[in-house]
Amino acid sequence: MSQTIRYIALTFAFIVAVFAYLNANLHKFYIFDPTDLQNLSLKAIEAYGNETRSVVDSIVRDLDKKFPNGYINTDEEWVFNNAGGAMGAMRIIHSSITEYVIIFGTAIGTEGHTGRHTADDYFHILHGTQLAHVPGSFEAEVYPQGSVHLLKRGQVKQYKMESTCFALEYARGWIPPMLAFGFADTFTSTLDFPTLWRTVLINGREILGNLLRGKF
Ligand SMILES: *[C@@H]1O[C@H](CO)[C@@H](O)[C@H](O)[C@H]1NC(C)=O
Ligand SMILES: *[C@@H]1O[C@H](CO)[C@@H](O)[C@H](O)[C@H]1NC(C)=O
Repeated sequence: MSQTIRYIALTFAFIVAVFAYLNANLHKFYIFDPTDLQNLSLKAIEAYGNETRSVVDSIVRDLDKKFPNGYINTDEEWVFNNAGGAMGAMRIIHSSITEYVIIFGTAIGTEGHTGRHTADDYFHILHGTQLAHVPGSFEAEVYPQGSVHLLKRGQVKQYKMESTCFALEYARGWIPPMLAFGFADTFTSTLDFPTLWRTVLINGREILGNLLRGKF
């Protein structure tokens, strides 16, 4: 008996140590740079303005040039995303254990809870405007085209896109726990299991593919 308890305690201590080590060294696994992503976004907006499809294509092309060998998913695989009461569509450009890059947006506006995440989230506005509200504030935070809305790990806000708005979203930190937030509305609200299945398939394929090429 005491042998079993010792074994369990040792295993637990080992897992905690590995987690603490990884958590302190997460930044070593990052390949994307927020400033670089902002530069790419601004360059694309300058070249294509409100032709958002061309803006997105230009960003994906530039990223694929910078990170060849499969880090970038160049296929246009759009899926609905319902999370925190908000609804939009997303296209997954990169997904791994420590980072994701997606295009998220809607042509008709939406509003909801950002979620409390285990990653820093950089929301580069490509088209339209995003508004945000934090408790205690009497003024809206306004993020226009070309700006970046940074939601730090652990922060929460109410956000709104009043009409057409698309963004290049980059998250860095622990990605898998964020997926639970991204999927929860399927079970409590939409029951749209084909969308959930497709999202899991695309994410799983990208995360595993990246692990196989040594990208944690
Ligand atoms: C982004 O653009 C600025 C201004 O042009 C430049 O100074 C900076 O080096 C660029 N950063 C990256 C990471 O490309
Ligand atoms: C996009 O459209 C909005 C609204 O019409 C306008 O204010 C903005 O300047 C346009 N952006 C570009 C880069 O053309």
